[in-house]
Amino acid sequence: MKNELTAQIDTVFDDVVAWRRHIHANPDLSFHEKPTADYIARALSAIEGIEISRPVENSVIAVLKGECAGPTWALRADIDALPLQEKSGESFTSQKSGVMHACGHDAHTAMLMGAVKILAGFRHRLHGAVKFIFQPAEEVPPGGAKDLIELGVIDDVERIFALHVYPDLPSGKLMLKEGPYVASSDNFDITINGKGGHGSTPHQSIDPIVIGAEVVSALQTIVSRSTNPLHTPVVTVATFRAGDSYNVIPDSAHLAGTVRTHDNEVRKNVPALFARILDGVTRAHGASFEITWQRGYTVGINHPDACRLAREKVAEFFPQGTLQESQYPIFSSEDFSSYQERVPGCFMFVGTGNPDIGAVWSVHNPHFVLDEAAMKNGIRAHLAIISSLME
Ligand code: NI
Repeated sequence: MKNELTAQIDTVFDDVVAWRRHIHANPDLSFHEKPTADYIARALSAIEGIEISRPVENSVIAVLKGECAGPTWALRADIDALPLQEKSGESFTSQKSGVMHACGHDAHTAMLMGAVKILAGFRHRLHGAVKFIFQPAEEVPPGGAKDLIELGVIDDVERIFALHVYPDLPSGKLMLKEGPYVASSDNFDITINGKGGHGSTPHQSIDPIVIGAEVVSALQTIVSRSTNPLHTPVVTVATFRAGDSYNVIPDSAHLAGTVRTHDNEVRKNVPALFARILDGVTRAHGASFEITWQRGYTVGINHPDACRLAREKVAEFFPQGTLQESQYPIFSSEDFSSYQERVPGCFMFVGTGNPDIGAVWSVHNPHFVLDEAAMKNGIRAHLAIISSLME
């Protein structure tokens, strides 16, 4: 099966590059991807044996039903871009001011379209069905996965897989981390209400800046003293806004930031720890506080069964030493985790780093350049996974 499938990669690759470049040049922001989805649907509708649906208008679900009975597995790509002004210098640079595919979702989409095209030719060998999910709005919580899940897109899915480009990993490599691999991400807004006054008479005021400074320090004890050191979260206060002069103590201070965890228990406990610290510190100084949370994505957890399958298939379809098993999860977040809460799944990273062509920038950087040759590995990985349903 391996040789028949992989022989097709070169035959679709010109299309894959063209698709990727078109999507790159015409990026859409999260929740506004209808033009991108229209483009994907148009390209895929030309392929025989593919059924297309649009549960939300900025998504595309393509289904390939095999001629033999079997389970339904899903492969997912995200299709949204970022609010960045592109500085990559590529010939197919973004035509839309302030919008750029700087996270490789253009490549994810094109690689999956390539897999659709190849796999459609093997319908007679397929036992079961493959659902190709082109999902909007990965970059902005609540994320596009949530809507698709609520609309029942994965109700019949028994395994789900996805890929993400990774410029820190050399082109040619793949990376897998079993168990938690990306973090949960929740944002907070805190207001500390004190009492304003003249800077020369602090005793007549309740200074929210001094109290806020204490809060910033105390919040770090959540990391260092209130959580098992093996499961420490990240607590970052990224905004501290208060006052606007040399001699006026303001009424209030605003703090905002993010919490990342790799453990859903820790994630659940964090808001209570915040409340305890805020309550204690503000009360000690006669101030009060308000806090609101914006819940982001849950911890991404790669299922052992799906990982085992991915590992076996990579060993079969790639040269020895291609797969790096990572020991540590990363602290970015990813809404593929929402599917994985319901269906055993595996999310793998595809190395795209290549200093020879300037592919050295991290994702979400306006200079981000992708090694397109690495997309062949992404397509190969999709084929490898689905070959499990073929004979
Ligand atoms: Ni991404």
